[in-house]
Amino acid sequence: MSNPYATLPLSSNTFKSVKRWGFILCLILSAFFLSVPFLPETIDNDAALPLLIGRFHPLVLHFPIVLILLTSVFLILGIFHALFRHPLVIGSLLFLSCVSSAIAVVAGYLLFATDDYSGDMVLNHLWGGIWTGVGICLSSAVYVLWLEKNSKILSYFFYTALGATTAFLGYTSHLGGSLTHGQDFISEPMTALFPPKGMPEKPLEEVLLYEDLIYTILDSKCINCHNENKTKGDLLMTSHDNLIKAGESGKNAVIPGNSAESELMVRVHLPSSDEDHMPPEGKPGFSAEELKLLTFWIDEGAEKNIKIVELLDHPEVGPEINILLPKIRKTQQRLFLEKEKFEQVYQELLKIAEPLGIEIMPDKDAEQLTFALRMTFPPKPFSTEELLKLEPYFSFFSSVSLASADITDDELFFISKMENLRHLFVQKTGITGTGLPYLHSLSQLETLNISFTPMIDGNALHLLEFPALKKIYFFGTPVKKEVIAALQAYRPDLEIVLEEGPLF
Ligand code: HEC
Repeated sequence: MSNPYATLPLSSNTFKSVKRWGFILCLILSAFFLSVPFLPETIDNDAALPLLIGRFHPLVLHFPIVLILLTSVFLILGIFHALFRHPLVIGSLLFLSCVSSAIAVVAGYLLFATDDYSGDMVLNHLWGGIWTGVGICLSSAVYVLWLEKNSKILSYFFYTALGATTAFLGYTSHLGGSLTHGQDFISEPMTALFPPKGMPEKPLEEVLLYEDLIYTILDSKCINCHNENKTKGDLLMTSHDNLIKAGESGKNAVIPGNSAESELMVRVHLPSSDEDHMPPEGKPGFSAEELKLLTFWIDEGAEKNIKIVELLDHPEVGPEINILLPKIRKTQQRLFLEKEKFEQVYQELLKIAEPLGIEIMPDKDAEQLTFALRMTFPPKPFSTEELLKLEPYFSFFSSVSLASADITDDELFFISKMENLRHLFVQKTGITGTGLPYLHSLSQLETLNISFTPMIDGNALHLLEFPALKKIYFFGTPVKKEVIAALQAYRPDLEIVLEEGPLF
């Protein structure tokens, strides 16, 4: 059978002029791509046609993606059969890639200029699209030259250019995906698939009753309030030595050999309505298995070096240990990762703190691993833009001081996303109170300082609906005495302080 492709007019005049025009088109399109950044950043919002074309961007962008990738696929298949890398095949793919890239970039630009897109990620995506377009056009131009001159060097140029284009394409698509689906779209399932390296798991023979089990139980339920930073009742639980010492009450938390008189157990066994009961109201207490294990450990002398392998068959605590061990290993892992994450976030925050004119420190008063934020002195301009740079870390803040910052009620919307916020100091800002309802979602907000704000009478009443609010500083605002009295009457538990109040 004769080869149907043998008759293709590769040396014909037609083909020559196709190559020439193709080459010129590539150059024109490259110039077009490079001119996009000079176009206006916004087009009239009512311009329906540009917006319509723009909205097609998510559809058309798939053409250049597929075509550019297909070009590489055909070149690779060409290693096995020359037909795949026939100039008509590759040339057509390249031509279609260039044209569809141009259409995708035009639509993308129109979407950008007519819709509400802004921010670094969008701009990087736009630039990525432009460089992908330039890349594919220049690759095609080099391809035509290569066909023409048949030189090896040009072939290397071509492959390099196509490789770079594919890299731009990957980068741009990734940003595009993040824009539509959120930044964690890929990384979230990825982390689930490849969880971050936790603690290496101790072999069973080495697991210690105190260090691994008892300590982890205390760490997850008590140590939040009984640590070096926050030593409630003067009782430090972070080391074995301290556990055996007396706390504020003068009673030893743990008396080796005597669980009944150990203050720790006494407190735990108090009825939960008793105000000395530990942990305090609302915090998760010990499970039955945990209690049994603690009691056993204290009664056996509260030793440090007991290995759990010796206890697995123990008639008294064997079953409990078997139940608890897998759970405790998980808790250990979780606590370890939480601390790692906290440390990592701390390092990241320290890097961005200085240029933003803020100081970040671990919040020593907090029961969770969270940070306190305050402005440095003298204050640098701090407004929406600066606030939004902190958005990825919002859930890590428990105490925020933005006294004298350039913020108004609108920014309270963002602050309301700091779900773990307990103390907020926004004195001497432009807050009039219209944004206060945003903060109702902050279920832990205890302290609010709005001294010296232009707070409006009626808006001050929004404060009635703050679920956890305990203390409010309210000095130097135009709010009338009657309104403050009304607030106090409706919320007698609320401490209204008519002083300027602390900065943080
Ligand atoms: C939310 C914070 C918090 C948590 C969590 C907490 N405690 Fe306390 N603890 C306190 C405070 C506050 C005091 C001091 C006031 C008091 O004596 O009741 C205290 C006091 C104590 C004392 C008395 C110290 C002394 O000698 O005066 C013991 C014992 C104690 N806690 C045990 C525990 C145990 C065991 C747990 C875990 C199950 C626990 N605590 C969890 C806040 C906490």
